[in-house]
Amino acid sequence: MITKKTVLVVGSLNMDLVATAQRLPQRGETIFGKEFATFPGGKGANQAVAAGKLDAIVHMVGCIGHDGFGSELMGSLEANQVHTNFIRQVDASTGTALITVADDGANTIVVVGGANMECTSIDVDRALESLLEPGILLVQNEVSRETVEYAIEAAKARGWMVILNPAPARQIQKKLMSCVDIIMPNETEMALLTDCPVETLDEIVCAAGILLESGVKNVIVTMGSKGAVCCNELGYQQIKPYSVNAVDTTAAGDAYTGGLATALAEGKTLLESMDFAAAVAGISVTRRGAQPSLPWRAEVEEFMSKEGIDR
Ligand code: RIB
Repeated sequence: MITKKTVLVVGSLNMDLVATAQRLPQRGETIFGKEFATFPGGKGANQAVAAGKLDAIVHMVGCIGHDGFGSELMGSLEANQVHTNFIRQVDASTGTALITVADDGANTIVVVGGANMECTSIDVDRALESLLEPGILLVQNEVSRETVEYAIEAAKARGWMVILNPAPARQIQKKLMSCVDIIMPNETEMALLTDCPVETLDEIVCAAGILLESGVKNVIVTMGSKGAVCCNELGYQQIKPYSVNAVDTTAAGDAYTGGLATALAEGKTLLESMDFAAAVAGISVTRRGAQPSLPWRAEVEEFMSKEGIDR
């Protein structure tokens, strides 16, 4: 039997209000959409649900409002094997995300934080004090910068592995970079964080050098249909993506992050975990919505055994 570390997600819960359209509108333009739907989302909750569906032991810290969206989001966590004891109801509206998805799977997202911004160091402490055995902390940037920074420092001080998904892109204090075991930006976030070009693999590796110099131990840059690259003191390694037909890329990064944390929590190596994460993200982009697109463990295993052969 595998001994699994606990995965603790500190982050956002949003109701996604999604319109599909042939293409994304340009600035100032009105276009007709095709369909409208709501899906449970939020980068934090998506990553927690990804890990839960993959059979990780996962707890989430976050805040929702006293409203229908909040209850739905809570229901989705519970239905997908995420422990919800550290979710707090606050006097603010549950977070929302206005999303447009184009026919080629590309999207734009505007997030209104609402209740997510009420998540504080006290919420983080409540979880860390009750989960005695150090595990893996996953944080993103859809809760306040203070809370993200506090979670990173407090978890590291207690011996947890710290994974930062800097989405949306935002800097953290320089002194905290050495508390981060893995930083996982996509190409856009990497460019914003380092102020470097990231058009080619060489440029990405060069930009990753800046983050490594600041004290981060591993940089994993997710590159969509080009796969992902991991940079650390040993050099760099590119992991191929699984070849799929994307219909909606919303939450692909969250699927990857949740998949990576799950595999690391089971003791897999970083490269094995990246391959597993690539499969989770690969399946997620073939389905619509954030949390409904995230695959169960058995689906990932079947997909890897079928698709892995040609890679
Ligand atoms: O990463 C995808 C998520 O970003 C969506 O679910 C939306 O809620 C925004 O947080």
